Amino acid sequence: MGKTLVLGATGSLAGLTAKYLCQQDASETLRVTTSREKNLQRLSERFAGAEAVVADWYDEGSLAVAMQDVSRVLVVTPDFTTDETVVTPNIVKAARKAGTVELLLRLLAIPPGLTASDLPQEFRDTRCGANLHVIAKPLLDMSGLPVCYVNVPAWIMFNLSTFFAAEIKSSRRMTMPAVTDANRMWVSEHDIAAVMAKVLSEPAARHVGREYALTAAQRYAYADVALLFSERLGEPIAYVDDDKALRASMGDDFDRLMTYFRHETEAYRDVVHRDTVPQLLGRPQQTLGDYIEANRRRFE
Ligand SMILES: NC(=O)c1ccc[n+]([C@@H]2O[C@H](COP(=O)([O-])OP(=O)(O)OC[C@H]3O[C@@H](n4cnc5c(N)ncnc54)[C@H](OP(=O)(O)O)[C@@H]3O)[C@@H](O)[C@H]2O)c1
Repeated sequence: MGKTLVLGATGSLAGLTAKYLCQQDASETLRVTTSREKNLQRLSERFAGAEAVVADWYDEGSLAVAMQDVSRVLVVTPDFTTDETVVTPNIVKAARKAGTVELLLRLLAIPPGLTASDLPQEFRDTRCGANLHVIAKPLLDMSGLPVCYVNVPAWIMFNLSTFFAAEIKSSRRMTMPAVTDANRMWVSEHDIAAVMAKVLSEPAARHVGREYALTAAQRYAYADVALLFSERLGEPIAYVDDDKALRASMGDDFDRLMTYFRHETEAYRDVVHRDTVPQLLGRPQQTLGDYIEANRRRFE
């Protein structure tokens, strides 16, 4: 087997996947990238034994170098900033040029059946969630490359920290604007990364052409999440309709996120749960309550 290339390994999901690959003793065949020279040292230290290189997916040449002798590639693109009409074609060209890629694994977040033509331009302009992935997926489908998708049409549990941790810590309140509330499925980043590490470390033929949808058995509105926090932390946490904390954490991206939520609060309603995580990992999926308990120090 050639090298496994994890693009953007400074990122949450890609970094966790690279960590799990290292735990499987795969660090010697691992190549991790950052687009920023200043992150290289941190990457080398975190993934000792792996090769750390700079690769910018807006720079086809740097991608071509990073793809040399690579048999597996992981692509997780960030919300808000990614122009998939440039990034995905660059990745496809570099993978074709390398000629050694047996599996390109791409993270998606697309409710089943949703395509770019279903989404008004104002939503696509948010470059967030499905609005990114509906651009990338058809390009990858048409590329002729051996592609596999891990699709997460749900919220990832690290959002608990992003959106709620600061207010819960300071005032025992869980605040978000009520217009963004929905009955959502939540999937742990640890389960997503474990699935991605498994797919990358098994024979490619087992996964080429597959799409693994990672969902959850239960749905939670904000009041339900607050109740879980109260139960697991052992003190009352109230859900409050307030946008101040979100404004502060999102800065200039606040308005785009609110536009995105107008799509997201509706689009994932009909997602059907499948037991993909336990089937692939051979262990139970992490629940939202268990995640809160395991990470309680972030909220206390
Ligand atoms: N939040 C949710 O509930 C949720 C749910 C489902 C799916 N998702 C999806 O999850 C994805 C985000 O995952 P994440 O939070 O793990 O991402 P992330 O932490 O934002 O990481 C993305 C990485 O991409 C790298 N990157 C940025 N620009 C680059 C460039 N020009 N060239 C190469 N690499 C570049 C960055 O590394 P450097 O800066 O070091 O280059 C960064 O660490 C999105 O696609 C989102 O739609 C999110």
